[in-house]
Amino acid sequence: MRRLDQLLANLGYCSRREARDWVASGAVTVRGAVADDVSAKANSADIRVDGAPLDHPDGLLLVLHKPLGLVCSHELREGPNVYSLLPARWRRRNPIVTSVGRLDKDTSGLLLLTDQSALVHRLTSPKHKVPKIYRATGDRDLAPELVARFASGTLTLDGETAPCAPAELKIISPREAKVTLTEGKYHQVRRMFAAAGGATVLTLHREKFGALELDDLAPGAWRELPLDYFG
Ligand code: URA
Repeated sequence: MRRLDQLLANLGYCSRREARDWVASGAVTVRGAVADDVSAKANSADIRVDGAPLDHPDGLLLVLHKPLGLVCSHELREGPNVYSLLPARWRRRNPIVTSVGRLDKDTSGLLLLTDQSALVHRLTSPKHKVPKIYRATGDRDLAPELVARFASGTLTLDGETAPCAPAELKIISPREAKVTLTEGKYHQVRRMFAAAGGATVLTLHREKFGALELDDLAPGAWRELPLDYFG
C-alpha cells in the first residue's frame, strides 16, 4: 500500500502537489469510491484515474528499435535522447526509465528500456554473458584474420588494460560482418575493429539481445515485454 500522492507522482501523472488537486477534483477512485485524502494509502490495482486503471503500476520493460541520431544518456546536453520517443508520462516516472546498457548515437537497433534497476544490473553484468549480436559494415574489405583476432581473448582496446572477452566475428560479405559480444565496453565493436587494425566501422546495428530480436519493429518504435520476460 502506498500513499495516493506518491503513487500518482511516481507513475508520472503529476507532481505530489498537483495530486492534491486531482484528488480534490474527484478524478481518483479507490475500489470504486471517490478518494478525498491524498495521504490515504491504497493498492495500485484498486486505483482508477478518470475511470482508468493506473498506467503500468508494476513497472515497464520495452524493446525499442533505436534509430540513428539519438543518445541513451538522460543528460540533455548530450543531445536528443531515446526517451523522447516514449509517452510523456513514462518520461516522468520514478524510478526513471533507462536503457539496459547503451548504444552510441551512430548505432541503431535493439535497445531494452526499463525502470527495473535490478534487471539492468543483471542483464549488463559481465557475469551473465548475455550474447549481443551486431551487424557492422567497414570502410574496406574485412581480412579473414580478424576472425581469430576477435576470438583470441587477447584483443585490448585503446586506453584499456584488460583484454576483451573472446568475440565471434562472421564475415558475411566483403565489408560486412556479424559480431557477437558477451560484454559491453564503451563503443566496443568500433574499438575492437580499430584495435585489430581491421577497418573503420561505418554502420553498426544491433540485431539481437540474448534471444530477443526486433522482428518487424520500425526505427523509433517500441513494444512491451512482460516484466518477467527474463525470468
Ligand atoms: N559497440 C559500439 O561501438 N557501439 C555501440 O553502440 C555498441 C557496441
